[in-house]
Amino acid sequence: MITSMTRTLAKDTINKIGEEITLQGWINGRRDHGKIMFLDLRDRTGLVQVVSTKELGDPRPEYCVEIVGLVKKRPDAMVNPKIATGIVEVEAKKITIISTSAELPFPIDSDGYDINEEIRSKYRYLDLRRPRLNRNLKLRSQMTTFIRNYLTNLDFVEVETPILTKTTPEGARDFLVPSRLQKGKFYALPQSPQQYKQLLMVAGLERYFQFPRCFRDEDPRRDRAYGEFTQLDLEMSFVTQDDILKLTEEMFTNLVKEVFPQKRITQTPWPRIPHKQAKSKYGSDKPDLRKNKNDKDELAFAWIIDFPLFTEQSEEDFYHGSGNAKFAPSHHMFTAPHLDDIPLLDSDPMKVRGLQHDLVLNGFEVGGGSIRIHQKDVQEKVFDLIGFSKKQKKQFEHMLTAFTYGVPPHGGIAPGLDRLLMAILGEPSVREVMAYPTSASGQTSVMDAPSEASEEQLKELGIAVAVQNKNKTGSIYDAIIEELKKQGIEFKNYEHKAVYTSQEAASVRNTDIHAGAKALVMYKDEAPVILVLPADMKVDTHTFKKIYKSRNLRMATKEEVEKITSVSIGAVPPFGHIFYIPIYMEKSLRDNERIVFNAGMHTRSIEMKESDYEKIAKPIVGEFALKA
Ligand code: AMO
Repeated sequence: MITSMTRTLAKDTINKIGEEITLQGWINGRRDHGKIMFLDLRDRTGLVQVVSTKELGDPRPEYCVEIVGLVKKRPDAMVNPKIATGIVEVEAKKITIISTSAELPFPIDSDGYDINEEIRSKYRYLDLRRPRLNRNLKLRSQMTTFIRNYLTNLDFVEVETPILTKTTPEGARDFLVPSRLQKGKFYALPQSPQQYKQLLMVAGLERYFQFPRCFRDEDPRRDRAYGEFTQLDLEMSFVTQDDILKLTEEMFTNLVKEVFPQKRITQTPWPRIPHKQAKSKYGSDKPDLRKNKNDKDELAFAWIIDFPLFTEQSEEDFYHGSGNAKFAPSHHMFTAPHLDDIPLLDSDPMKVRGLQHDLVLNGFEVGGGSIRIHQKDVQEKVFDLIGFSKKQKKQFEHMLTAFTYGVPPHGGIAPGLDRLLMAILGEPSVREVMAYPTSASGQTSVMDAPSEASEEQLKELGIAVAVQNKNKTGSIYDAIIEELKKQGIEFKNYEHKAVYTSQEAASVRNTDIHAGAKALVMYKDEAPVILVLPADMKVDTHTFKKIYKSRNLRMATKEEVEKITSVSIGAVPPFGHIFYIPIYMEKSLRDNERIVFNAGMHTRSIEMKESDYEKIAKPIVGEFALKA
């Protein structure tokens, strides 16, 4: 039961010396000193130390608790300068355990970079308790609040645009959503609100912004989220390119001052570098202009301008909607040509300069935009040049129609919010600044989508699934092969008669038994783990428990193995991350240049470099096995 007394937040304890208060939060840590124990209580404002005796209760790390106690000033020698409340401690009078916590699947007091991403993603609500991620979400909120206030004060109007819409060509694959009312037809999720924001200019809003979710089905990279990400999208009428650059520059300069005061901008005004010069001088259209690349507080912004309007058509440009022309839009098909270059559209299109601008920060393209075409005939000409068929042109007819009704000249920009924050904070991936990012393999955080639809759902949509999902065992094999291919890892796969022991496996594959990677599903303090070791070795339980500070280690039963991995015993691959299970690898596996293992089926094996294996499975490596 929780007392109805007013709650005191951890950060406010320093102003309550001598008072009895009620704290609510989590046990961040506990140190026992005989009868006395020190608890760190954590709430949204930070930590405060509580001193208690065991008679009052036995709260363990991550329990959610309420503590009534007396705030005391610590003697000078006991002050802890590392926490903001280090001058006080709370002497507990009463401890109420609101809810207990199971042992966490991973530590949350570290930065977490070395923990397997799939597991972090599955337990994202715990991962977010990590101070670094907690801080990142708060900074993200401060950032959007700042921008919203800033732009609203400048007469910008925040407008939401549809998510169920029609294909929007930003150069990636679309996500499609089947329509129930018009069977056989599909919505596309927007890759950006590009067309809608231009239509808002036709509507006379003059100044628009929003934080739109953009959906793109493209391979993830560290600066590119799979599936969805957020932009700061803005558009203005009656402006020049210079107006857009100035506004963005002033806004972000103020943003840095206000929200990231410890950061320093290398050069102001931000350099404006013609595309050609960026390529020749830095060999990149997103140069890293920091003076000291090791300085985590340095921010080197730059503008890249004077892009050519077109680039040579490449295979990737297929998704720009074209496909059979020599030219592809260098930014997108709505970008305006430089006014002086319009005649060149007929004579020498590749020479036409576009009014595109990219915003670069510390080597990342954090934003892109342009002045747009606002004349129907110019837009049609560009459609022709990029090789649009009649049918493709028809898809954009609404733009051409809108362009017949008094269109203001307009332009804008869309910084990627995630990428911008990632670059400012120096985080290694955009996923570190998103609350629930989709993992690199396209699995959503916590909820594990995509998943199958029921027969009834499909029927209602008039859809039949042509690619039958293979049985689960087969799909684990496929998943591994797919992952190896995607990461460009060299491997060899074997098909052989069914094998059930390491001996049998080694003999049908004609490989050394020490090179066989045996994957054992076990329970470490009742949490499933996979131990990977050479097939001629066995686990030294005592040593394992000692190294990894566990109280208990046991083999999973046959049923448990199947439940956890959906693979039968003996065919479990050493790829625990596929099942969201931490992997511990015996160091002697490194004796082998190449390793080989059963991959989800008794009749399939995969052979690959040991070093590649570690790269992809990211096991925790230690010495915990003995020769069998
Ligand atoms: P563009 O396609 O260049 O332009 O996107 C703008 C910015 O969005 C960010 N971004 C991404 N961030 C995370 N994950 C992704 N997969 C991802 N893809 C893009 C980048 C990029 O610079 N409608 C135009 C903008 C305009 O012309 O106004 C557009 O979307 O930081």
